[in-house]
Amino acid sequence: MPLKDEIARRRTFAIISHPDAGKTTLTEKFLLYGGAIQTAGAVKSNKIRKGATSDFMEIERQRGISVSTSVMTFEYAHQLINLLDTPGHKDFAEDTYRTLTAVDSVVLVVDCVKGVEEQTRRLMEVCRMRNTPVMVFINKLDLEGRDPFDLLDELEKELSIKVTPLSWPIGIGATFQGVYDLYDKDLRLFAELKTKVEASAVHIDDLKDPRLDAEIGGDAAAQLRHDVELVDGVYGQLDLKAYLAGRTAPVFFGSAFNNFGVKEVLDTFVRIAPHPGPRPTDQGEVRPDDPKFSGFIFKIHANLDPNHRDRIAFLRVCSGRFARNTYYHHVRLDKDVRFSTPTTFLAAQKTIVDEAWPGDVIGLFDTGQFKIGDTFTEGALFNFRGIPEFSPELFRELINKDPMRSKQLEKGIRQLTDEGVAQLFTQQPGNKKIVGCVGDLQFDVIRYRLEHEYGASCEFQTIPAHKACWLTSTDPAALDRFIRTKALQIVQDKDGNPVFMAPSAYMLDLERRGNPEITFHTTSEFKTQAAAQA
Ligand code: G4P
Repeated sequence: MPLKDEIARRRTFAIISHPDAGKTTLTEKFLLYGGAIQTAGAVKSNKIRKGATSDFMEIERQRGISVSTSVMTFEYAHQLINLLDTPGHKDFAEDTYRTLTAVDSVVLVVDCVKGVEEQTRRLMEVCRMRNTPVMVFINKLDLEGRDPFDLLDELEKELSIKVTPLSWPIGIGATFQGVYDLYDKDLRLFAELKTKVEASAVHIDDLKDPRLDAEIGGDAAAQLRHDVELVDGVYGQLDLKAYLAGRTAPVFFGSAFNNFGVKEVLDTFVRIAPHPGPRPTDQGEVRPDDPKFSGFIFKIHANLDPNHRDRIAFLRVCSGRFARNTYYHHVRLDKDVRFSTPTTFLAAQKTIVDEAWPGDVIGLFDTGQFKIGDTFTEGALFNFRGIPEFSPELFRELINKDPMRSKQLEKGIRQLTDEGVAQLFTQQPGNKKIVGCVGDLQFDVIRYRLEHEYGASCEFQTIPAHKACWLTSTDPAALDRFIRTKALQIVQDKDGNPVFMAPSAYMLDLERRGNPEITFHTTSEFKTQAAAQA
């Protein structure tokens, strides 16, 4: 099939949610429709089980699941869909943020009882940074949830995105009767559909039709007429362009567990979600239909077997055709490499692939030399942008407990931070190592893995810092001065860039205002921007 047909056939996306909103359940229902799994319960939840946060077997279990479900590929309506998995636990949020750099759109699941939650907010911030198109599925309508208008208001306010409902619920919880599909004008009545049977639909073009009263009762019909009139007036029709630009999110209501309202999301998704699109690099955009292959690594996963130091690097194909056993240029290392065993994963089975196309994600065997953000090309010397590191939120000093194993500790922490498990900063004099993470649990993971995989022993000492800000300035003398006066709060990242450890939000604000010639970055995106300007 020619390149442009392969691109037109593909959709690469992620389902995101606050833990427990129903991401795993919705994923499973999508896979059932796609025929990728046959039974409910086949998709393992990759979240850390409640109350098991210090159980390392649990962490290993989670790591195992997250390899096997890193990308789930299925066909639906003649489209090839790559669904990228994101870790459920908030302590692994950075992994999720980076996975979002590899998708073309997302489906956000919101619990109708809880509304917008902490993780929902953060994940949407990352989507907004890249203007990723978002579809919203408001889940668990079989429970006593909040008023749908309130929920939409909250989505708009808290997530700074406009919404357009494409379906509307009739009742909620005990009174939930189904949804009215505002797009196809179908009334879908609620039934528990745990398999992939479709809900029975009654086509009702005009809500004045008395069949509506007969189907759902007079009171519910009157309420629906009233609601739909309001919805039409307030939200109007879906503006497709605004959706594709990440400004408007279509919203669906349903119950993933009961497989209700799920098919409508999937059908709309294949109709409107974007195909693999152009990607920014430090040399301008690369279009997917550029015949020359290019791609970048967005995730690295260590081997689960501690005796093997090798890792799997996940590469998103951005342009051209990737072929097995072909030499490609690794831009950062300036060397040509080829892969004899590129893999895809489905239901824990690794399959070797001979070729891959824009939008696809493949697993590459890595002996420890790749880093997140690395670009591969057919020789061109550009780097993909938009794969930033985010400022960690927790900082601890790494203390070596076994001086005889210093080398192992050094190597271990470097490799783990290359994997993106955490970020490493150094402070001089003294070569003090500071590890920054998004969540507490990652420090436990690091300590455990340093001990079991590298035979090094360490402990962590809390450092009271609020954010790590990369510093740049158009005035080198001013930057130098700032670095000298703030020496105690200045550290270096792995590439030697100066970073300010802001002790509090207040102090950061103060420094920002007091030093207008210095830019304080909370993501490392500026690095590729700087390279682009050079
Ligand atoms: P997550 O991946 O976003 O963390 O959520 P997950 O799908 O694991 O769902 C969290 C819980 O919510 C699960 O219950 C799941 O069964 C339930 N759930 C999902 N969709 C619906 C829905 O439409 N209605 C209702 N009432 N519940 C729903 P659990 O008890 O934590 O797990 P399990 O024992 O059912 O697996």
